[in-house]
Amino acid sequence: MSGWLAGLLALAFFSPLAFIYARAFAGRVQAAAAARGRSAVAVAAPKLIWPLVLGCALALRLGGGDLAEWQEAAASRTLAAALSALWLLGSLAAILFFVTIPFVLGRFLGALLAAMGKFSGERDDPLSFGSRGFKREGSETAGQESARMGFTVAIDGPAAAGKGTIAQRLAAHYGFAYLDTGLLYRAIGRLAAERGLDLDDGEAMGAVARALDPAVLDDGSLRGREAGELASRVAVHAPVRAALTEFQRGFARRPGGAVLDGRDIGTVICPEAEVKIFVSASPEVRARRRTDELLAKGRAVDYGTILQEVRARDERDSGRAAAPLKAAPDAALLDTSELDIEEAFRAACRIVDASPHPRSGA
Ligand code: CDP
Repeated sequence: MSGWLAGLLALAFFSPLAFIYARAFAGRVQAAAAARGRSAVAVAAPKLIWPLVLGCALALRLGGGDLAEWQEAAASRTLAAALSALWLLGSLAAILFFVTIPFVLGRFLGALLAAMGKFSGERDDPLSFGSRGFKREGSETAGQESARMGFTVAIDGPAAAGKGTIAQRLAAHYGFAYLDTGLLYRAIGRLAAERGLDLDDGEAMGAVARALDPAVLDDGSLRGREAGELASRVAVHAPVRAALTEFQRGFARRPGGAVLDGRDIGTVICPEAEVKIFVSASPEVRARRRTDELLAKGRAVDYGTILQEVRARDERDSGRAAAPLKAAPDAALLDTSELDIEEAFRAACRIVDASPHPRSGA
């Protein structure tokens, strides 16, 4: 009787911890299931083997039986050896009782929740133990599993739609490398202007692009407004775009996985990218964001001017003949007009996790 009471008390004591773990497990199972195109039950089932074995071993050990008696009664030596192993495992599980119980309970509860479709957005496991089995599949669904193979997330969209921030956060979250391709065009525009070259001369701009040293991309001032304007002028030239294509493709297929953001990533650079997202927002929202961003940096700007600039840049980027800004036909559309950055990031994660090519790398 007291054994049962102790068991019930232990269950009550550990259930909050088990529930936290169960939520994370459920989220990861569902993310892995979506990415692999399998059911949550099929993904969760093999992950219940260890908790089942541990649970049985613990029950055997704490059940008050006598190992020697069981071994004597065992029909074969193999069965006797298996009982010893289970007994030993049960002893270990009992020593690590406070870890074993939330782990076993959490996994079974999590599998049930996953099968019911609950907590699909959960992924951050607050417990470090027992999470190794998921990490490769859940929070890094498209990440680590595919890392060896190459996995490209192509993000396109107009200026100030939030694509840069989303791309950076995705890269950090999945452990992918990140390339802001706009910096390439910015660097070319800046170099050409510094050298007094004609920005409308496509061949001359192409030569600057072919000689570009990627080391210049580290220059923080490239992110400024002026460089953005210069970039959009040199980006219209086909020789410039051609010179940058191989570099971007090589980056996209690097073994660790990559996120690239720009205007033509999903359409021209990586039409075969595993994930394509087109991030947009209304010109007014984008102009407001850009104005606030610049005001926060202490720059004297006004909303009307920025809105004009945003519209002019949209027009130039969408209207040009070479690789115009447009969504790839198979891109997921993400309108961030009504979303804050956290919501936009989560929406992007869902798109990546739902990719049907978690490790194809093809
Ligand atoms: O951050 P923001 O969107 O303002 O600019 P960016 O992404 O750094 O791009 C600056 C300009 O480079 C854009 O307006 C495009 O004209 C050009 N660009 C492009 O043509 N293709 C890319 N893949 C990236 C940028």
